[in-house]
Amino acid sequence: MNILITGGAGFIGSNFILYMLKKYPASTAGKPDYKIINLDLLTYAGNLENLEEVEDNPNYKFVKGNITDEKLVTEIIKDNKIDLIVNFAAESHVDRSILGPDAFINTNILGTYNLLKCAKNSGDIRFHHISTDEVFGSLGPDDPGFDEMTSYSPRSPYSASKAASDHLVSSFFHTYGLPTTISNCSNNYGPYHFPEKVIPLFITNLLENKKIPLYGDGMNVRDWLYVEDHCRAIDLIIHRGKIGETYCIGGNCEKTNKELTYAILELMGKGEEMIEFVKDRAGHDRRYAIDFSKIKNELGWKPEVSFEDGLKMTIEWYKNNESWWKKIKSGEYQKYYKENYEKR
Ligand code: NAD
Ligand code: TYD
Repeated sequence: MNILITGGAGFIGSNFILYMLKKYPASTAGKPDYKIINLDLLTYAGNLENLEEVEDNPNYKFVKGNITDEKLVTEIIKDNKIDLIVNFAAESHVDRSILGPDAFINTNILGTYNLLKCAKNSGDIRFHHISTDEVFGSLGPDDPGFDEMTSYSPRSPYSASKAASDHLVSSFFHTYGLPTTISNCSNNYGPYHFPEKVIPLFITNLLENKKIPLYGDGMNVRDWLYVEDHCRAIDLIIHRGKIGETYCIGGNCEKTNKELTYAILELMGKGEEMIEFVKDRAGHDRRYAIDFSKIKNELGWKPEVSFEDGLKMTIEWYKNNESWWKKIKSGEYQKYYKENYEKR
């Protein structure tokens, strides 16, 4: 199988490529070969260091480029006889979408549209779209978790752009019969997570003995899933998912941001004096939760890594990979953070 992975140099995409190349090694006797083409623009969030260990793998190839580029995407599909596209490429940070939505509209909406168009025009290529639970909006404290029947109610430019991309994917299935699937997953964490997102930001700040900025009252709730569990779910969907369907993926692991913060502080041997309560995010969604019964019942998936183990492994990873995140934090990102933090 020849797979075009977009956004494979980002957090989840790079974990997925490493997962797939390990699970389906080159030329295993009697098994089909999995060839992966990674198309990534290498924005601030893309980092080829994530993929150093597979650089020389004969089943892996990197192409730098934009998912909005019709000519390039069509050429890649043709030249590599692509059977399946898995679309991870996106602008992914809510705070950045509040500061400047343009890139979110271009990549998340127009980029997904272009990929769908190229998939359709190149002979109805199988298409799996990676999306988020944020498209469903914000839950009250006693509401049941989001599932595949929940109506969309996005509230940030990020989630609105992802919602639009999901609708485009569905429209290509219903209108043109393109063989698509969508997955809507809750918050991921683990290795190679860009240190602007809450877990890697807090871990790396604490390793540098810096304060950790908790938004608002710290009582917003997120559902956390270790990234490898997400990769396993995607692997199942691309092989056994029903065409035209959506799958919700979650960690069964709701935590308030305060609970998450105290868990990180405790594992890192730091005290609560490191917390700095800061101005809340505009339009901050209060609670996300997922009911993942469908993927559990249909494909036998459930999360396997506990929150405690996942958080421990993640902290260890950041301790052991200081040069990876220090390079990021001391580069362009530092300037962005200083200039924009107060504007949030
Ligand atoms: P990320 O920001 O770490 O990575 C995004 C990648 O896309 C980067 O490598 C970037 O260079 C690339 N990219 C951006 N614009 C591009 C373009 N126009 N053309 C080609 N490449 C481009 O994001 P992530 O956290 O790995 O998220 C991946 C996907 O999963 C996104 O679609 C996101 O919406 C979704 N998702 C993320 C989470 C999460 O917790 N991180 C949860 C659910 C769903
Ligand atoms: P984030 O990692 O940005 O993911 P998302 O907004 O996609 O859920 O934020 C997770 C939660 O952590 C969210 O409720 C906002 C909060 N948060 C903080 O309290 N401080 C921070 O510095 C950041 C980045 C997020």
